[in-house]
Amino acid sequence: PVPPATPQYRPGYHFTPAAHWMNDPNGMVYYQGTYHLFFQYYPDGMVWGPMHWGHVTSTDLVSWKEQPIALYPDKLGMIFSGSAVIDVNNTAGFGKDAMVAIFTHHNPEEEKKGSNKHEYQSLAYSLDAGKTWKKYEGNPVLPNPGIADFRDPKVSWYEAGKKWVMTLATKDRITFYSSPNLKNWTKESEFGEKLGAHGGVWECPDLFPMTLNGKTHWVLIVNLNPGGPNGGSGTQYFMGNFNGKTFTPSSTDTKWASYGPDDYAGVTWNNTGNRRLFMGWMSNWTYANQVPTSPWRSGTTVARELALQQVGNQIYLTSQPVKETVKLFPSVTTFKDLTVNKTLDLTPKLKNVGDKFQLKLKAQQLASFSLVLSNAKGEEVIIGYDQPTNQYFVDRTKSGQLGFSDKFAGRHTAPRLSTSLQADVTLLVDATSVEVFADQGLTVMSELFFPTEPLSKLRLTADTSFLIQEITYAPLAPKAQ
Ligand code: FRU
Repeated sequence: PVPPATPQYRPGYHFTPAAHWMNDPNGMVYYQGTYHLFFQYYPDGMVWGPMHWGHVTSTDLVSWKEQPIALYPDKLGMIFSGSAVIDVNNTAGFGKDAMVAIFTHHNPEEEKKGSNKHEYQSLAYSLDAGKTWKKYEGNPVLPNPGIADFRDPKVSWYEAGKKWVMTLATKDRITFYSSPNLKNWTKESEFGEKLGAHGGVWECPDLFPMTLNGKTHWVLIVNLNPGGPNGGSGTQYFMGNFNGKTFTPSSTDTKWASYGPDDYAGVTWNNTGNRRLFMGWMSNWTYANQVPTSPWRSGTTVARELALQQVGNQIYLTSQPVKETVKLFPSVTTFKDLTVNKTLDLTPKLKNVGDKFQLKLKAQQLASFSLVLSNAKGEEVIIGYDQPTNQYFVDRTKSGQLGFSDKFAGRHTAPRLSTSLQADVTLLVDATSVEVFADQGLTVMSELFFPTEPLSKLRLTADTSFLIQEITYAPLAPKAQ
């Protein structure tokens, strides 16, 4: 039975399917003015089940239009995560500009036999810009050599070598393959067995170049479950160099693209030119199947634009909401030079805070502070910075419904990586989530919560006095909801 509907938990500007279960974003590709987002989807239930690729499209990365399901399970298995490319040179022979999906077939029958060969990579293609799909009759294109976890191919064109490169999660490491035509794949190298976080299995990787001060750096994203920085699912990344064959890390640090518990399986869009656009699944395998929403379960993070930033001798990935997000929040209220001495209640100043808004805070000097979202029932989510430990945090210990999982309640922390004296923090609040982008996106946290009444009160607190140069508050435009 479907639990009673929870429209109050429906985000206003994060993508959620109208109904049923979703997990990872898949096959993100830009083509002729349209951003395609496919996703792990089970159209017959509200918990994980035989996976399909759902499909939505957008022209602005902030509003999404549902499209028919793109890929259905077949006799080779369920359709697990993967990527999509535009085959401009018709290397595969499906047709010029074919949109080609490269995904994992996961075969539960084979899995039962215990051969460890139940995951393999396959192709499907569309000749009408993603509307209709055909599976390639030669599937699978990359059979399994005997590794139980062998999945989530991210394929992109490697221009310097005029070939496709596949970055594949293979249990506890990444394996790189290359191909001239998407159909025949040659193993190039392995990476990571002895580097990075290994609290769980490696999944959903991504590999792409970015530039900082004219120099190219390669970023290798590796999702990991469990073993994330705040428990359960997490997204780590490595900085380094890639020469078409091998990835050579430039640092042995474990770095996290995001620290909150609810940002997983994130990868980037193909075909977006100089912009590097990222999106994650806003949940955590620890409790994703139990969260109290209906008739859908799970959604995505906002689309983000990635950049690089150097701090000391390390280069970090930064991520910030895409600039298109601005149009969601057209009416801005600004407060200048506020002093928080113990408590400053913003609720009366804002009249109607609502539960879907953007808030930006800028300070010349950072001190411990908290931003408390609350309701009349005393439920609250606290977002803040703790100076003694130099950490940002989100505390959802008293955020409302908690009983669906004993792993949900908690206070989660993230290091402040910036060494700047000035601080800026952007919050995106959307009914049941907050995404925190601190210091131009150097520290990011995404977090879910399920209050029994909307959290539409807002106050600031500080131990000692905290001087805020500027706060801007902007509610979600009514027509965007
Ligand atoms: C990550 C993941 C992938 C897999 C998919 C199955 O969340 O486990 O590794 O392809 O989900 O739905």
